Amino acid sequence: MTFISDSAVWKRLTAQAQALKSVPIKRLFDEDANRTEQLSLEAAGLYLDYSKNKITDEVIEDLIALAVEADLEGAKKRMFTGDKVNVTEDRAVLHVALRDFAARHYHVDGEDVSAPIAHEREKMNAFVADIHSGARKGYSGQTLDTVVNIGIGGSDLGPQMAVMALAPYWVEGRRSFFVSNVDGHHLASVLKELDPARTLFVIASKTFTTQETMTNAASARAWFLENGGSEGDIAKHFIALSTNQQAVADFGIDTDNMFRFWDWVGGRYSMWSVIGMSIALQVGADNFEKMLRGAHAMDEHFRTAPLRENMPALFALVGVWNRNFQNIPAHAVLPYDQRLLRFAAYLQQADMESNGKRVALDGSALPYETGPVIFGEPGTNGQHAFYQLLHQGSDIVSSDFIAAAISDDPLSDHHEKLLANFLAQPEALMIGKTRDEAVSEMVAAGAPAARAESLAAHRTFPGDRPSNAILTERLTPEAFGALVALYEHKIFCQGIIWGINSFDQWGVELGKVLAKKILPDIARLGEEKDPIDSHDGSTNGLMNWINRARGEADA
Ligand code: F6P
Repeated sequence: MTFISDSAVWKRLTAQAQALKSVPIKRLFDEDANRTEQLSLEAAGLYLDYSKNKITDEVIEDLIALAVEADLEGAKKRMFTGDKVNVTEDRAVLHVALRDFAARHYHVDGEDVSAPIAHEREKMNAFVADIHSGARKGYSGQTLDTVVNIGIGGSDLGPQMAVMALAPYWVEGRRSFFVSNVDGHHLASVLKELDPARTLFVIASKTFTTQETMTNAASARAWFLENGGSEGDIAKHFIALSTNQQAVADFGIDTDNMFRFWDWVGGRYSMWSVIGMSIALQVGADNFEKMLRGAHAMDEHFRTAPLRENMPALFALVGVWNRNFQNIPAHAVLPYDQRLLRFAAYLQQADMESNGKRVALDGSALPYETGPVIFGEPGTNGQHAFYQLLHQGSDIVSSDFIAAAISDDPLSDHHEKLLANFLAQPEALMIGKTRDEAVSEMVAAGAPAARAESLAAHRTFPGDRPSNAILTERLTPEAFGALVALYEHKIFCQGIIWGINSFDQWGVELGKVLAKKILPDIARLGEEKDPIDSHDGSTNGLMNWINRARGEADA
C-alpha cells in the first residue's frame, strides 16, 4: 500500500515546513506588501483571509499539487454524482442535492432522487404553514407555538445551532427547545416550561433506534398523556423525522406525521433535510430556504472554482498544512458572534466524527495524523477562559476567527468593541511580544528593573500562532448556510487528502454496545444487587460503588 505521504509532493512540503521553521509569519507580511490579497478570497458572501498562516506561494502551489495527487477533483465529482463514496456503509453522500436550486438531477442506484426531495420539502413547508397559520392546532384548539426537538448528534446539533444563529429571523411568538441527553435532567427541565396543549414534539432520528432519543420520546409521550393529552391527541402533538418508517409506526406515530429522508444523507449533514423542521418552524420556511440557498451558492463555488480560487479546498489545504507539516494537534473555532454559540459544538461532530479516523479506505493503518481536536466558544467569552493556552501554551493551536461586519442588534458600541477584539486576538497570536518589549513595557509603567527582568519570561508571547479569519457582511440565513457548507466541504477535502472515509462513524459503536450490556446490572434505586465481577476491575469497582449508593438510598 502506498500512502500520500510517500508522494514527492508530500516530501517537498515536509522540506518547505523545515525551511520555514525559523521564519516568523509576521516576517512574511514584511516581505510582501500584497500578501493578504494573494492569500484571501471571497465566495458566496463570505470573505476568507488565510494569510496569517505560515505559508508562502510555493507552499500553496505544493498543497494544490497534493490535492491533485489525491484526485480531489475526481472525488468531488464522484460525490456530486451520487457515487457510493461512503464505501464502508455502501452509501452515496448527497446532502448537496437537498439544497440544489439549479434543477440539477441526482441519481442513487440509477434512481432520480430530485422528485422525492422536492416532495418532502413541499410536505414540510405545507406543515410549517399550517402550524403558523393555526390550520393545525393542539387538542384544545390552541395554537402550537412551542416546539420540542427530541434528537441527538446530527438530529440535534445542526437544528439547534441554526435556530440560535438565526435569532433575528424568529417568527414572533414561537419558542423552540432542544432535548438530546438521556440524562433525565435535560427533558425534565424542559417539560417544566411547557403547556402540553400548545406543544409540538418533533422526534428527530435518522434511525429511530437511538437510545437517548427513543427514551426521551417515550418519556415525553408519557408526560403528554399524564398532563391532559389523550392517545387520540398524539397525532396532533407528535411528528417524526426519520428514514425508518417501520420504527416510527412501531413507536406509535402515524406515518402521515412522518417526514422522510434517506440513507444517503449522513446524520451530521442532515439539517438541510426534513431534520431542519425545527429550524423552519422557528424562522419560517422562507428563511429556511434562504439558508439552503446560501449553502447551494457555496456548493456551486466548490463544484466549479479551480483549486487556486476554491475557498473550501484552500481552507482544507491550509488545515492539512497545519496538521501534518506544522504538527498542530488542535484547532479552535472562535465565532465573534453570540448567535454562533453552538457552532463549535456542531463542528465537533461534523469534523471529529468525519475525520477522526486512523485507517485508510482499504483498512491499512495511516502513517500520518488526520483530524485535529476541534473546540471553541464564542469570542469574547473564550478570551477570558482558554485563550491563555492559545497565546502561551506549550502546544501551538490553530484557530478560525469568524465575525459579521454589521450587527443585527446594534446596542451602543458593543459591535465595535466585539470587532476590535476579533481583530486584536489573531494579531496578538501572530505578532507576539518579545522579552525585550515585555521588559521595556514594565519599566515604562514604573516597575523596578529587577522586577521587570524576573517577570519577563511570564510576560513574553512567542507569537507565530496561525489563524484564519472569516467575515460576512451580516449573519443572514444565506451567509449562515454558506458558512456551514464551507466547513462541510473543507472536511470532505481533508478526508480525501488523508485517504479516509469521512462519512462513517464506527467509532461510536463499541461504547453503545457495552452500555446496553451494563444497563441491566445498574441497580434501580433501593434495590440490592450482587457484587458485579464480570468486567475489568475498575468497571466492577465503579458499578459496585454505584449499586451500593443506590441500594442504600431511600427509594
Ligand atoms: O452515535 C452517533 C450517531 O449515529 C450520529 O452519527 C448521529 O448523528 C446520531 O448518532 C443520532 O442518530 P439518529 O439520528 O439515528 O438518532
